[in-house]
Amino acid sequence: MKNKAEIDRINEMLAGKSAQEVIEWFLKDFEGKVAFSTSLGAEDQVITQMIAQVGVPADIFTLDTGRLFPETYNLLDLTSKKYDLNIRVMFPDASRVENMVNEKGINLFYDSIENRKLCCHIRKIEPLKRAFAGLDAWICGLRREQSVTRKDMRLVEWDENNDLIKVNPLIEWTETELWDYIKANRIPYNKLHDTGFPSIGCQPCTRAILPGEDVRAGRWWWENPETRECGLHKK
Ligand code: ADX
Ligand code: SF4
Repeated sequence: MKNKAEIDRINEMLAGKSAQEVIEWFLKDFEGKVAFSTSLGAEDQVITQMIAQVGVPADIFTLDTGRLFPETYNLLDLTSKKYDLNIRVMFPDASRVENMVNEKGINLFYDSIENRKLCCHIRKIEPLKRAFAGLDAWICGLRREQSVTRKDMRLVEWDENNDLIKVNPLIEWTETELWDYIKANRIPYNKLHDTGFPSIGCQPCTRAILPGEDVRAGRWWWENPETRECGLHKK
């Protein structure tokens, strides 16, 4: 368990710094020990652009669950080329996916929360754990505003599930700030964001929302808001 005092010290030191400065500090101070986990969502595209601007070599990875939208794959390709970055793609263990699907069905996640969590575990959590090998810290694109499950999150936290420091450079950003930044800096983004998808995950588990609905209302929409986390960010 990381010393709480140390996490508090880093938070104090970085208080008032811009997202770009926070990213730069971690890339330099944790060189070779920090990675950015990108889903290619709007927040993550901002962080990728900031990492490219800092210009030091950085480990960036994405979890390809095998069930992503075609638009997400296209954005992955475009982003790697635009910023000349080598985005590491993590895949789930093929035989575990094979066994799960053959035992429980291709769309098992709609049948129960248990099945949904199993699918997220095999397709996301296990590859995430592998991606973490040798790291001390990971950077994510969480924003406090996104969900009831995220309202208490801090800029820098101790991630007990993974024994890592977790950094959320955009934690305080509002949706308006996010989109102003994307437009002003001509950052490539997933075209699904223009058609009612503020939060994009796997294709079968994400749908468009209606105006006024919560930004994560389209993620695992058949479940209660309290269970709508895949385990990447559970407390
Ligand atoms: S999720 O837990 O509900 O899927 P969300 O889509 O809000 O998460 O994304 C929050 C952060 O989790 C992203 O900014 C990113 O850092 C990380 N993340 C989510 N999905 C992926 C993925 N497929 N690959 C890598 N990182 C991801
Ligand atoms: Fe499986 Fe849906 Fe989780 Fe993707 S979001 S890993 S398809 S349950």
